[in-house]
Amino acid sequence: MANGDKSRHGKVTVVGAGFYGSTTAQRLAEYDVFDTVVLTDILEGRPEGLALDLNQSRPVEGFQTKVVGVGGGSYEGTEDSDVVVVTAGLPRKPGMSRMDLLETNAKIVRDVSENVARRSPEAVVIVVSNPLDEMTALAQIATGFPKNRVLGQAGMLDTARFTNFVAEKLAVPVGSVQTLTLGSHGDTMVPVPSRCSVDGKPLADLLSANDIEDLVVKTRNGGAEVVALLKTGSAYYAPSSAAARMARAVIEDSGAIMPVCAWVDGEYGISGVYLGVEAELGRDGVRGVVETELTDTELAALQEAAEAVRAKQADVADM
Ligand code: 2OP
Repeated sequence: MANGDKSRHGKVTVVGAGFYGSTTAQRLAEYDVFDTVVLTDILEGRPEGLALDLNQSRPVEGFQTKVVGVGGGSYEGTEDSDVVVVTAGLPRKPGMSRMDLLETNAKIVRDVSENVARRSPEAVVIVVSNPLDEMTALAQIATGFPKNRVLGQAGMLDTARFTNFVAEKLAVPVGSVQTLTLGSHGDTMVPVPSRCSVDGKPLADLLSANDIEDLVVKTRNGGAEVVALLKTGSAYYAPSSAAARMARAVIEDSGAIMPVCAWVDGEYGISGVYLGVEAELGRDGVRGVVETELTDTELAALQEAAEAVRAKQADVADM
């Protein structure tokens, strides 16, 4: 039974009604914490149809949040969104790297960001389009929003993948496993074994260095493995879980600390770049980057990741 008395507030818009966008909209609606979830797409009919379908699931799933579909590339109805999740852009095809999407998705993300800035000037923008770190930087430039109000989803997803692989390897519940990944959502992803544990025991006491490295490689290739199997499109169940959690932390002003792509300004000796780090999330997006203790090797890898994405992020300014 739907809880009609539960308090809900705010509007979240999900731009892009592909699998990533539609599952994100579904998760956000099922949380039952927003007043309205708006799902938009350039296609006419798809977001409207999905919204209709999702609303018809409300009596069964027991949520009151209203889902609104807006097609044809319109932003009407998205006005004054509190949170906007940008999923617009092409997914990878088998064999492609996320970076192969740079030029195509840059055009789409710039256009979307400009529209979002016009319609929802106070929104917190969560970018999930790939290549993630570059598209997040571009969205900040194109919206002109303060850097704390633009962030990207990747670390939550990569961490979830790492946790899942560790749990499978050790045959333990996922809830006993703690992992962390920082760095880029790409080749310079930085899994942080020193921050990984199972029921409080360091991962290094439970698995050999080789086994941990295998899981790290599997995590780094987690998205590509799904792409290769699906053949059309990329992962969306785990990615949408991660993006929806971030949007929820924002609307609930929860102060949750999550690995996200955030603007780094001095932490870890790194400045002036969007990078995967842990951050505290609240109503204004990123309240602050939370620095964690890293081994020398992990810190060096994070700094290397920062330099790799910095070069690419400079390129997107003109795209
Ligand atoms: C992934 O890693 C879509 O980038 C996303 O699956």
